[in-house]
Amino acid sequence: MLVLGIESSCDETAAAVVEGKGGLRVRSSVVATQHDLHAEYAGVVPEIASRAHEEHILPVIRRAVREAGIGLGDIEAVAVGHRPGLVGSLLVGLSAAKALAWSLGVPLVGVDHVHAHLTAAALDDEPIAFPALGLVVSGGHTTLYAMASDTELTRLGATIDDAAGEAYDKVAAILGLGHPGGPLVDGLASEPGVDDRAFDFPIGLIRKDNLNFSFSGVKTAVLYEVKGRPAPPTLPGRDPIVPPAPPPMTPERMRDIAASFQRTVCAALVRKTEAAFEHRGPFRTIVIGGGVSANSRLRREMQELGDRLRVPVRVPPMKYCVDNAAMIAGLGVRLLETGRRDDLTLSAIPTTAC
Ligand code: KG4
Ligand code: ZN
Repeated sequence: MLVLGIESSCDETAAAVVEGKGGLRVRSSVVATQHDLHAEYAGVVPEIASRAHEEHILPVIRRAVREAGIGLGDIEAVAVGHRPGLVGSLLVGLSAAKALAWSLGVPLVGVDHVHAHLTAAALDDEPIAFPALGLVVSGGHTTLYAMASDTELTRLGATIDDAAGEAYDKVAAILGLGHPGGPLVDGLASEPGVDDRAFDFPIGLIRKDNLNFSFSGVKTAVLYEVKGRPAPPTLPGRDPIVPPAPPPMTPERMRDIAASFQRTVCAALVRKTEAAFEHRGPFRTIVIGGGVSANSRLRREMQELGDRLRVPVRVPPMKYCVDNAAMIAGLGVRLLETGRRDDLTLSAIPTTAC
């Protein structure tokens, strides 16, 4: 089965062709990023994003079809990321997907973007052995799932505030780095000679019997370390307390803050994954996906966790960690195999279903 995948949920316009024949073979994967357009705002501006999707969507689809070495008439189904995301952005990909499926007379299937991040690890590789423990770590989500199959997820725990990627992006903004901040913080934290124990930032919701995450505390701790603590309210009849100014920022201090932050975030992710594996299993695999699964320390520590637990850890190749349409087409193949079909009433929905 040759499935065209379309993705436009945030600031990447993407199209891909995946062949489902036992495994999931990626025939082409094209991604047009808009990072430059949003850089000066240190975050994604929804109106700018949807306009850029409109400009990119048709050239990106044409290129994906061409690079797959096929014609439009060879496509057997269209899969589209229709949730979660910015509605104006989702609508661009969804409209293109509906128009193509209708005009080609092939099935349309709507895919949940967060769920698709867990299919990324199976692209161009062996099928995943189920039941599996899944962890999505992206800019908008940090969630643990029990996966009975490629298409059946049960949520075990999730962040109660910031997603891991969001914390990375905010810490990058506090440190005055660019956007998206994850790869930049990762780069600083990986410089030679860096001290990842220089700062003792808090791990949120540290107890292992709670499978939720919290990353707003570590982000605020970094903010105070960089900008100083806010002054406490002055009590009647007392002198105001002026907190000490933070030491001047040096390149060494900056990279030690980045590395200590990264150690803390990875410790939280590994700790909760280990707890879920021990108490909510049995699981035959641990699967990770989402932009933060590109993080060098997380990839290393998750492999070490797998070695300790004697379970294979499936992490996507770097190009399928961040947003792409191959994962959308891949999950589309699996959903179509279960008989799922959507019609032209499929809507763009801002929230995830899983
Ligand atoms: O999955 P994704 O492309 O988009 C969402 O679905 O949100 O994830 C983007 C997030 C951003 O927050 C970005 O900073 C983060 O993934 N990210 C990283 C790394 N590469 C991307 N975070 C930490 N380390 C990285 N190497
Ligand atoms: Zn994503």
